[in-house]
Amino acid sequence: MTIKEALTWGSSELVEVCERPQYEAELLLAYVLKKDRTYLIVHDNDHVDIKEYEKLIARRKKSEPYEYIVGEASFYDIHLKVEEGVLIPRPETEILIDLVAEIIEKEQIMRIAEIGVGTGAISVVLARKFPKLKSIATDICDKPLKVAQLNINKYEVGSQVYLRKSNLLDEVDESVELVVSNPPYIAEDALLDSKVIDYEPKEALFGGRVGDELLKQIIVDVKARGIKWLCCEMGYDQKAPISQFVNEVGVQSIEFYKDLAGLDRGFIIEFL
Ligand SMILES: C[S@@+](CC[C@H](N)C(=O)[O-])C[C@H]1O[C@@H](n2cnc3c(N)ncnc32)[C@H](O)[C@@H]1O
Repeated sequence: MTIKEALTWGSSELVEVCERPQYEAELLLAYVLKKDRTYLIVHDNDHVDIKEYEKLIARRKKSEPYEYIVGEASFYDIHLKVEEGVLIPRPETEILIDLVAEIIEKEQIMRIAEIGVGTGAISVVLARKFPKLKSIATDICDKPLKVAQLNINKYEVGSQVYLRKSNLLDEVDESVELVVSNPPYIAEDALLDSKVIDYEPKEALFGGRVGDELLKQIIVDVKARGIKWLCCEMGYDQKAPISQFVNEVGVQSIEFYKDLAGLDRGFIIEFL
């Protein structure tokens, strides 16, 4: 089969499962051939063996995310290793990173903690932006800790990002000035796309029966430790309950931010 024919076939197979079937067919064929997409265009009449490509198209057709198939996700300015059992980093989390970066710069912050490291997306990007920054990053699951270590090694930030298996900050005794987290914040009974629910880890998605339980626990823990800043991602429908909760807990200020779709997506708390 020629490259052109393989792409036409692959893209027709993926029509039902993805928004950009032609693009994803190209990415998968390029991945199998170990070439870039431009190569496919220039060599579209070349004959190729498509056995491996057929297998990958079949996996994608069952809604397996592209990132798990190729073992990598683009995030911010890097390519993170990912595998099943670890959340694929989402573009909206890049907004959280930019807001945290502003605070780190303005307040000259040197020591932070991250709760729920996943692939290491947040801590690795921040370490690359601020070469003097130290971060202790926790996760309750082993798989994310393993994958985060691979990414820390890949981007050579091992002298800045220290991983720790911990529920929230329970195992973190060191003093830090800021906590960042993109915790699980989805309600247990929420209806999710099959690409997400069938493949991504439940521990990374569900924050409790209502969804905001872990977020609230993080707010309480960070305040109790006298840490000044807390920056979190949250669900689009959690602004009202979080506002009410911080009023009860008492904070100096809370600012909510939106994602690129205009939905409420997180908050920055400054404690007293
Ligand atoms: C939504 S994912 C975020 C991953 C990564 N920070 C990102 O933004 O792509 C949440 C992560 O928190 C971890 N997690 C869940 N409950 C936790 C807890 N109680 N303490 C620490 N980590 C937890 C999950 O294993 C998962 O890796």
